[in-house]
Amino acid sequence: MTVKQLQEDILNLKNQNDVLVLAHYYQSIEIQEIADFIGDSLGLSRTAKEKANTEYIIFAGVDFMAETASILNQDKHVLIPNYESCCPMAAFLTPEMVKEFKRNNPGLPAVIYVNSTAAVKAESDICCTSANAVEIVKKISNEFEVDSVLFGPDANLADYTEQISGINCINMPESGHCYVHSQITIEDIKTVKEKYPKAKLIVHPECIRGVRELANYVGSTSRMYNYVRDSSSEEKEFIIGTEVGLLERMAQDFPEKSFYLAKDKLVCYNMKKHNLELIKYLLENLDDKAFEVKVPLEIAKKALKPIEKMLDFS
Ligand code: 13P
Ligand code: SF4
Repeated sequence: MTVKQLQEDILNLKNQNDVLVLAHYYQSIEIQEIADFIGDSLGLSRTAKEKANTEYIIFAGVDFMAETASILNQDKHVLIPNYESCCPMAAFLTPEMVKEFKRNNPGLPAVIYVNSTAAVKAESDICCTSANAVEIVKKISNEFEVDSVLFGPDANLADYTEQISGINCINMPESGHCYVHSQITIEDIKTVKEKYPKAKLIVHPECIRGVRELANYVGSTSRMYNYVRDSSSEEKEFIIGTEVGLLERMAQDFPEKSFYLAKDKLVCYNMKKHNLELIKYLLENLDDKAFEVKVPLEIAKKALKPIEKMLDFS
């Protein structure tokens, strides 16, 4: 079956069922094309909370995103096309580690990046995404009347947040990172900039400091998208320091501009575990419990508070 035929079948099945399809920018372009909403992790959490009025939500993203949607919509069925799609960064931090950091740093709030398990979120004072980390850290440190926070699991986002907010971010653990973004080196950037000297460099805050410091702009996936959308007609070329799915979205939406990846193969293989066949299968088998994302009730109840606090704060 061709991609077009599969997409048509999916659109028909969507019309026949009470279902919403959410997709992260890192999904393949074929999946983005059939989604009802595309966004960054903050935008998708908001959409799941505020706009999902269907019985079923199919979430084409990694597990922590689908778990967050499930926690925010406990009366709905949240389905993930491939349940092996997980974010390896989440494995850097366990609930026990958060408890120990809190014991060793009494009075400091634990700010947990949403790229974490629900059990870790349940131990946090507030969650954050890459789009709102600076704002969240400023507000929570103000509420707790402290000038340091515990921050995990991404050490690069912690470093970025500390640089911009001026609030000390203590890493939980020392070196949590994303294998996609942390592979971009200063050398890679020098090479690509030499090749495209007029291009603006825009990168995700999960990149290492040296890469961020060479960038014209640092922001979450949706902020990177908005930066390009709002750029002047003279700004025609962009080097993209994040997963290739966002570049494909931009190339489709802004055909008058040119986009280059900061280095070859910036692929999140975990995000790419979904495909159209799996989405079609789900639409034909919405009650197949194997694909339903359910967080144990006690953990979901505890994790809901820091997630909702994040949404209220940003
Ligand atoms: P965004 O919140 O910017 O979408 O990022 C999510 C993510 O997993 C980045 O690697
Ligand atoms: Fe996780 Fe990195 Fe993939 Fe984002 S790009 S989902 S942080 S592995």
